[in-house]
Amino acid sequence: MPQLRPIDLRCEHLATAYGLNTSIPRFGWGLEGDGQDQRQTAYRLIVTDVETRKVLWDSGKVFSDNTLLIPYGGAPLPSDAVLDWTVEVWDEVDQATMSIPARIFTGLHSEDWQAEWIARYFVLPAGREVPVDNAYDNRWQARPADYLRRAFAAPEVPVRATLYVTALGLYETYLNGKRIGDHVMAPGWTDYHRRVEYQVHDVTDLVQDGENILGAILGEGWYSGRVGHNQRRAGNHYGGRPALFCQLHLHFADGSSMIVASDAQWQTRQGPICYSDFLMGEMYDARLERCDWATAPGLQAGWQPVEVFTPDPRAPKLDAARVQPAREVARLPAKFLHLAQNGAAIFDLGQNIAGYCELTVTAPQGARFTLRHAEVLDGTELYVANLRHAVATDIFIAAGKGQETFKPRFTFHGFRYVEITLPEGLALEAISLAGIAIQTDTPVTGEITTGHPMVNQLLSNIFWSQRDNFLSVPTDCPQRDERYGWSADAQVFWKTAGYFMDVSAFLTKWMVDLEDGQSPDGAFPDVAPTKPLNPYRLTPQPGAPAWGDAPIIMAWDHWLRYAHRDFLARHYPAFQAWMDHIGRPNPDFIRRNAVYNNYGDWLSVGPASDRTLVATAYWHRVADLMARIAETLGNATDAARYTQLSRSIAAAFRTEYLDHNGCLTGDTQTAYLLALDFGLLPEEMRPIAASRLVDLIEAADGHLQTGFLGVRHICPVLSDNGAARLAVDLLLKDTYPSWGFSIAQGATTIWERWDGWTPERGFQSVNMNSFNHYAYGAVGEWIWSRIAGIDWARSQAGYREIAFRPLFDSRLGHCRASYQAHVGTVSSYWTMQDDGTVDWRITVPPNCSGRIEPPAGWTGVDPLAVVGSGTHDYRLKKRQIEVE
Ligand code: BGC
Repeated sequence: MPQLRPIDLRCEHLATAYGLNTSIPRFGWGLEGDGQDQRQTAYRLIVTDVETRKVLWDSGKVFSDNTLLIPYGGAPLPSDAVLDWTVEVWDEVDQATMSIPARIFTGLHSEDWQAEWIARYFVLPAGREVPVDNAYDNRWQARPADYLRRAFAAPEVPVRATLYVTALGLYETYLNGKRIGDHVMAPGWTDYHRRVEYQVHDVTDLVQDGENILGAILGEGWYSGRVGHNQRRAGNHYGGRPALFCQLHLHFADGSSMIVASDAQWQTRQGPICYSDFLMGEMYDARLERCDWATAPGLQAGWQPVEVFTPDPRAPKLDAARVQPAREVARLPAKFLHLAQNGAAIFDLGQNIAGYCELTVTAPQGARFTLRHAEVLDGTELYVANLRHAVATDIFIAAGKGQETFKPRFTFHGFRYVEITLPEGLALEAISLAGIAIQTDTPVTGEITTGHPMVNQLLSNIFWSQRDNFLSVPTDCPQRDERYGWSADAQVFWKTAGYFMDVSAFLTKWMVDLEDGQSPDGAFPDVAPTKPLNPYRLTPQPGAPAWGDAPIIMAWDHWLRYAHRDFLARHYPAFQAWMDHIGRPNPDFIRRNAVYNNYGDWLSVGPASDRTLVATAYWHRVADLMARIAETLGNATDAARYTQLSRSIAAAFRTEYLDHNGCLTGDTQTAYLLALDFGLLPEEMRPIAASRLVDLIEAADGHLQTGFLGVRHICPVLSDNGAARLAVDLLLKDTYPSWGFSIAQGATTIWERWDGWTPERGFQSVNMNSFNHYAYGAVGEWIWSRIAGIDWARSQAGYREIAFRPLFDSRLGHCRASYQAHVGTVSSYWTMQDDGTVDWRITVPPNCSGRIEPPAGWTGVDPLAVVGSGTHDYRLKKRQIEVE
């Protein structure tokens, strides 16, 4: 008897919710089964308090096939509670299966907080201990990390202990000397003047009867360290010193409880982290370690009282983390390559990552190790000019106590190569080195390979550029003095990102940042969080076309992928404000005004596209999406209004930019791409535009010329307009400019520029040349949705209906793709046989249907056949074209 099983339980998009920001959390699960045409006919959700075993909500048996975002319907949830929830599902023969339980930490309500913000008193300069000429001095005035501690007595071992903690800056916490949790770069980046996310840790096992020591280490991070490229205001964007805010809740067997909070009873001093800064690096002097700082109860010497204070300009709002924490996600062995000219040893991780090194040494006391990081080599040397002002250097000074391991805590670098300067007389054998990649721990959801090694490397490069740049916010790059959440980069990449990883929680959090960055007059920002980009402005720098439009575009992708209607509703007023902001100054429907830093088709090669044309096309795009969003939200009036707006823009666009021969102003690839993909052309002009696009590619010797904006559309538009073969040609090109060109040069991540390095000209400008920018990786969505052929159908959001639309091409040999959607796992495997036939197997999760769209000219399956859940096999043949 086939079984239907609930899997992948999520509350507010998280496998475990660590704190809730809502009184009505939403539950979702996927389904797996081993039969055909399986359906959920009913579900039952039960939420139980783990401690009291009290059932807080029992939905009863609900006859519904829904599995996504079902709202909690019980009495108000208690704060500081730990809950388990289960779902039981029934199939079409009324057979029931129960899930394994998932956990929720409810977090604290605003009135539960008793903690105070605490920090080290300001001592000038730069917060040092007694001024002496020692290791704390550094020319960037990066601060030493602050160590904080507080002793408390527990009357007995608690039955439950939960730590609620956050910081302005970065923190790690310890209980009785043991590190709490495995998060890195916590609490992540938000606009700290408005809000900060707190984290929740179950520390029951760490509390002991009697004396306990709760400790924390604070670093600067995004709060007071260097972020961005502005050298006149490099750091201190939110404040001048890090601060801690925490509350430990202990519950005892007799029902009593106690709270230990950050307050005036804490003490602080400095330790072995002489400074730490994202851009500069970290210096660690192991001779200054105080091993007992987080264990010894009576320790007083050298410790000073903390200052209790209210952060400027106001205490931030405390939100539970909406997103998974950042963690160490991969460890890469470092291979020794050669000695550099200065005698330092150069190591290679074989992969460009964001993270840091772990260095293990046996060395005498005071032995100093300097680690420099770079993405690429220039001959035998590290190439660091493209890091601009990022020094990206870590220093470790050994204590001389046998084998010692150093790993920085509060910095990260974008790098593949490491140069280590060893102390005199120390042989290379005395050290071992590994690279550690970090990222926000968004679950990996996609696996995809083809029979083409270069395409597989491209897929890997896209995956790694996503991994390396998804650190609390989606950043442009992880290496130079920038690392902002640039919104157009993210928007063009968002559909791609959603295949490789579950980005539902990640966008839920970042959309709050984007909205926090919206100006009072409705302008969405260029980057979010906004502060460091333009520190002289009192309001955030308003977004350029395609940048400021990003929230609406990503929200629509988010809807189609995850069917999260409440998300659209929550942000709808902000979207409307943006539409008004760009609409008001452009009464003739050409987007000439309110375009700010109008970047255009950023970093395109070949003729530049007309920026006003690009801006207007994007305006049409967001007007069209707003009509769909309004319709999804049941707002017919707005839907009609935005439809009318999009029509007016399209009409103005044609009048302004389209001539009688079907040529667009500027005659660039991107102009045709946007016009075709955004639906700006009259039906009869589409084939003309498509053929002009093909001509332009041919005139460029078969190459693309698009920048960040055009790149997303080129392969999809070609394959939707009868030129699928040309799209695959572009994918497989390895001459400049192409994806393959960077791979031929050894790229392991996506380059920011098509010509980041060329044999003729060497490196591009040192002013802007990252080797780890995901924007051009936006081709990933087409590989997933068209080569593998796994796409959402617009008819039913959330992959309830899946469009299977593969492209078979003998040059690729095969494509095997599996995507874990929120509803369950979708897969598509095709292999081309030697005789040119194709074996194609697809899997549709229970509850869902698949619409089969074989490529034009292939027989063996009815085009537009609709199939139910389960596995389906097809053998397809290309129809012979009759030649007269
Ligand atoms: C960033 C880009 C960004 C652009 C805006 C660059 O400095 O690295 O990724 O979108 O500026 O023009």
